[in-house]
Amino acid sequence: MKNGLEDVIAAETRLSDVDGPAGRLIIRGVSLDDLVADGTYESVAALLLDGLLEAHVNAEGLKERLGAARAEIYAYVVADATLLALPPVDAMRALIARLPDGEDFETAFRLLAAPAVFLPAVLRIQRGEAPVPPTASISQAADILRMMTGRLPSVEQTAALDAYLVTISDHGLNASTFASRVIASTHAGLTSSVLAAISALKGPLHGGAPGPVLDMLDAIGAESHAKTWLAAALDRGERLMGFGHRIYRVRDPRADALKNALKPLVATGQVDRSRITLAEAIEKAALAMLKERKPDRPLDVNVEFYTALLLESLGFPREAFTGVFAIGRTVGWIAHAREQLLEGRLIRPKSVYVGPFPIAA
Ligand code: ACO
Repeated sequence: MKNGLEDVIAAETRLSDVDGPAGRLIIRGVSLDDLVADGTYESVAALLLDGLLEAHVNAEGLKERLGAARAEIYAYVVADATLLALPPVDAMRALIARLPDGEDFETAFRLLAAPAVFLPAVLRIQRGEAPVPPTASISQAADILRMMTGRLPSVEQTAALDAYLVTISDHGLNASTFASRVIASTHAGLTSSVLAAISALKGPLHGGAPGPVLDMLDAIGAESHAKTWLAAALDRGERLMGFGHRIYRVRDPRADALKNALKPLVATGQVDRSRITLAEAIEKAALAMLKERKPDRPLDVNVEFYTALLLESLGFPREAFTGVFAIGRTVGWIAHAREQLLEGRLIRPKSVYVGPFPIAA
């Protein structure tokens, strides 16, 4: 039995390949670096969904349909008392749960737009501000930032969010994607798949890590405190958030994609440079310490470390980070769910019973 299903192959996919030893990610035949170089959320979404929703999906057509879907979704924004009290990702999930379910294209487009509309609305409502309605004519990344802040974002901010959304759009059979495929295999519907996937994503061992990364940065505060703080955390048996990965045994390629995406913001003074310098110093100290303390387990930076810095730079509060991850990953969840529907069967593995048996009379 493979604890945690490590190395177990549970699906064939044409969507993405995660090469752990080489530290390489390919999405539908294109390497991550090439995708991020000039990619937008719409272009990677078209790539992932091509042939799985309609015979051909292109980025321009998708941008138009997403704009229309955001407008439709805005009607589902409510500001009830229950939502006010929930963490943003839970409030977003509760709103998505109100959407109709189905396996069709309309359901898929609604779901691509829903987290992008609901998260900024939830953040504003929880701050006591009125939500900002979507604008169909701009890109999804620009509209997310606009709906959150009430202002059109800069070109560099939009590009940075696009780079993030592209980078995290799909990543093999991770826990949330597996959850999406399991639900799809029962024909419960795409909305149910996305709800299950968000529920898996929000755990701190998956998509819930970037908020705690910033907590760590704040707790350390200055480069000179890094070694003492990190050593004490490891002595307490804690895991360093933003480090380690089930598949990668080298640096997560997404970490550098996001680190690079931060550069134009730093160069134009839209990010506090000292924050990045502190993070780099902590990264260096943590890597040296993990190498010394866990010599048999290669542990390097994962996607969440620079996610934290990038999303903070764009003005997202840390409690919203998992929700932003869900905005980007929904396209991967839907593509996998559609692939499962078109090519898979009911997912129903077996367990080994290790409990007691009735005593024979
Ligand atoms: N800090 C310190 N030690 C670690 C870390 C870490 N971040 N990650 C793994 N280890 C250690 C474990 O303590 C364990 O040591 P031991 O054998 O001496 O007990 C060993 O490495 C193996 O750990 P596992 O839990 O078996 O590794 P697994 O593959 O299950 O874990 C995971 C992967 C969950 C990502 C882990 O590295 C972790 O908890 N990281 C911190 C949380 C995090 O950053 N999550 C985001 C992951 S990226 C994503 O999902 C989008």
